[in-house]
Amino acid sequence: MTLQPLSLGQLDHRAEPALRNLLKALKQMGHHFVPPSPTTHARVLARDPSRQARSLRDVFGWSLPFARDLPPASLLDALLQADLVVEDKGLLRSRVRVATLEGELFLHSAYPTTREDAVFFGPDTYRFAAFLKAELADVPPGGVLVDIGAGSGAGAVVAARLTRPRRTILTDINTAALRLARVNVQHAGCAAELVLGEGLSAVEGPLDLVIANPPFIAGEDGHTYRDGGDLHGARVALDWTQAALKRLAPGGRLVLYTGSAIVEGEDLFFQAVKALAAGGPFDLRRQELDPDIFGDQLSDPAYADVDRIAAVGVSVRRWTA
Ligand SMILES: C[S@@+](CC[C@H](N)C(=O)[O-])C[C@H]1O[C@@H](n2cnc3c(N)ncnc32)[C@H](O)[C@@H]1O
Repeated sequence: MTLQPLSLGQLDHRAEPALRNLLKALKQMGHHFVPPSPTTHARVLARDPSRQARSLRDVFGWSLPFARDLPPASLLDALLQADLVVEDKGLLRSRVRVATLEGELFLHSAYPTTREDAVFFGPDTYRFAAFLKAELADVPPGGVLVDIGAGSGAGAVVAARLTRPRRTILTDINTAALRLARVNVQHAGCAAELVLGEGLSAVEGPLDLVIANPPFIAGEDGHTYRDGGDLHGARVALDWTQAALKRLAPGGRLVLYTGSAIVEGEDLFFQAVKALAAGGPFDLRRQELDPDIFGDQLSDPAYADVDRIAAVGVSVRRWTA
């Protein structure tokens, strides 16, 4: 079965109540779904090309077409009225999926996520969340937290739970991401400000905790959630790191997860971070979280000199004095 990519539709004023109700209903029903990589998703669906949804997990997890009488009627009506469901060869499909992480539900884009404005949630989100949990145990409460490129807002929710900030700010260049994130963070019981803008450009003042899972695939093929630019895809991560280092308050931290190109045994992204921080009031740490992710990318000419892509967590702490 070839599923067509779906836009997120109009996502206008009708969408938020319908999305809130969807999360509430799925939570009550004990919905659970961990979105795999697009490659795995495609392999699973290819086992049965005529498969249609038999459960809400199929609808909001596997993005499968479904019959009108599958969801509760009131839920379907609200989704139809809010333009969150589309007709597909006599069946319907949801424009959104709902993932579970740390007991919470997160709206994100339907599979396949090939549209430019797709709202990302995937295996990297889980690695990012695990790194945040490992790093943030000793962050004092009451600070200003920013999640750059927040996507669905999953990282911000995990970090806010751990650190109890006085302000939580989510930035993204994708308006659809900010709309879904608003619903997701509210559903998780967090208060957050949502800011449209590149990196930290639309955020003011000193920052106590900056977290990020930037796009890191080399090049510009028209996907805001994955195009990391030049430097083997590290450009966006480096720009965000540079911006964060200038804005960290004394004792403040940057906690960044990314996929880093390893060339002749060297992590080029981390070398560049060290150069940015050199001579400054910073302590740096790097942790390799997975030695080999996105191996398929290595066939791309942009990776001709790359040994492997490693999932890395980088933590930068500004000295207190
Ligand atoms: C890999 S996704 C991560 C999303 C989310 N933080 C997560 O962990 O699931 C990268 C996110 O960065 C956003 N983004 C890309 N370029 C950006 C920029 N220049 N400034 C702010 N956000 C950007 C994308 O729209 C996307 O939501």
